[in-house]
Amino acid sequence: MSIINALNWRYATKRMDGTEVPQNKVDNILEAIRLTPSSFGLTPYSLIVVKDKKILKQINAEACQQPQLLEGSHLIIFAIWDKITEKQVDDYMALVSSTRNVPVTALGDYKKMIWGMVSSMSPADVNNWSAKQAYIALGAGIATAALEEVDATPMEGFNPAKLDQVLGLQAKGLKSTVLLMLGYRDVKNDSLVKAKKVRRAKKDFIEMI
Ligand SMILES: Cc1cc2nc3c(=O)[nH]c(=O)nc-3n(C[C@H](O)[C@H](O)[C@H](O)COP(=O)(O)O)c2cc1C
Repeated sequence: MSIINALNWRYATKRMDGTEVPQNKVDNILEAIRLTPSSFGLTPYSLIVVKDKKILKQINAEACQQPQLLEGSHLIIFAIWDKITEKQVDDYMALVSSTRNVPVTALGDYKKMIWGMVSSMSPADVNNWSAKQAYIALGAGIATAALEEVDATPMEGFNPAKLDQVLGLQAKGLKSTVLLMLGYRDVKNDSLVKAKKVRRAKKDFIEMI
């Protein structure tokens, strides 16, 4: 499928049919997310993937009362780092150094630039900035799921504090920020299966200068 056909095929699926998404497809979606660029390349978020039905049920009961949690296959949680520490920036420098075979000492200005920016922001602004990075990856995950012909519902309709509690994310220095539920559309019960896509016309959306 071309990317445009895939993006026309996909929709935010409200009801799923319980079919499990094959592991190779889940892996491709996760890899697309991992390969997503981020500002400075720092990637200040991690993923938690839940396929355990008992935990999905608990998340549904306590943090996200949407049916896709019970009818879908894999829940991808985009969880930002609750704060960005100098050690995390140093760890990233070490990764750049070992991956590209450059001495850490040659990365001093790069580190100063990243840490200078991060350390000058308020904690709330750091969280917002991290969430922006995670949302870029959410987009890549949505598009890749469509190419894999896997349905995917992005979700903000959940209680992040409760979800963090269920999964013990605070202890891991993480905060859930947005979700992507993978599964397969329930053709009989999803009223949006045949709904036309609602988007502003190109002329109202794009200004060519
Ligand atoms: C960040 C984000 C959060 C969303 N949250 C929810 C949600 O909690 N539950 C839901 O059913 N749909 C959710 N949606 C789906 C949108 O309502 C949907 O993408 C939009 O109406 C466009 O329709 P389409 O995706 O079917 O083309 C969300 C979409 C995005 C991008």
